[in-house]
Amino acid sequence: MQENTFVVRPAEQRDEPSIADLVVEGFLDKFRPVFGKRMERSTKIMERWVRLEHSLGGVDSLVIEGVSPPELVASVGVRTGSSDDEALAHAIWETLRQNLGFFYASWAASLLSYPRYAASSSEAYIERLVIAGEYRRQGLARTMLDAAETLARESGKRTVGLHVSGSNLPALKLYEACGYEEVSRQRSLLTGYFLGIKEWLYLQKEL
Ligand SMILES: CC(C)(COP(=O)(O)OP(=O)(O)OC[C@H]1O[C@@H](n2cnc3c(N)ncnc32)[C@H](O)[C@@H]1OP(=O)(O)O)[C@@H](O)C(=O)NCCC(=O)NCCS
Repeated sequence: MQENTFVVRPAEQRDEPSIADLVVEGFLDKFRPVFGKRMERSTKIMERWVRLEHSLGGVDSLVIEGVSPPELVASVGVRTGSSDDEALAHAIWETLRQNLGFFYASWAASLLSYPRYAASSSEAYIERLVIAGEYRRQGLARTMLDAAETLARESGKRTVGLHVSGSNLPALKLYEACGYEEVSRQRSLLTGYFLGIKEWLYLQKEL
């Protein structure tokens, strides 16, 4: 089976630029309306964002390398540690402001603040799961979720939670196939109008 040839490993600091590339590419439909003509700055912003999540947000990333490392073909962030939310929010805001200026930073911050999540100490939170386009439908997302759940279990968590947009059918199918169940929905007129995402579903799985 193809997926057995891919190995999941914890991300290191040197992986952060490649994770940022993967995330921007995988979520282009979300980032294009947020960054508009400033799209070329999105990778730099995302790289800094991922670094801040690692240093302040209690997040570890997992990655899969392609056949010619250091190319990464998959990544996911898993929050198992405690987050210094105030410092993280401040540092992300400063990153946006320095790269976009005050006006566009305010705009981007409003859109990127969705979905909203209230962390719980018994839950690991999965975010920005992405598989490179040409590696999809080979079971890599399942492999990444398994690894994220193992990390959550080893960290003493009882559940894993995540958000998915109501219009992301591949991801909805994936999570359903992997045993995640809907707990609640958040509606947003703002992301509905500008990103085409009217609803964010909060899914959870018992470990
Ligand atoms: C969603 C995503 C992570 C799926 O990755 P993937 O590696 O292709 O998924 P897998 O091959 O592990 O698929 C596992 C199951 O998910 C479902 N699935 C995945 N992609 C699907 C698609 N395009 N259409 C329908 N079902 C799909 C299927 O049930 C599949 O099982 P099957 O292949 O036995 O039918 C990938 O499409 C992606 O990176 N998308 C962009 C970023 C994104 O939306 N991330 C999710 C954020 S919440």
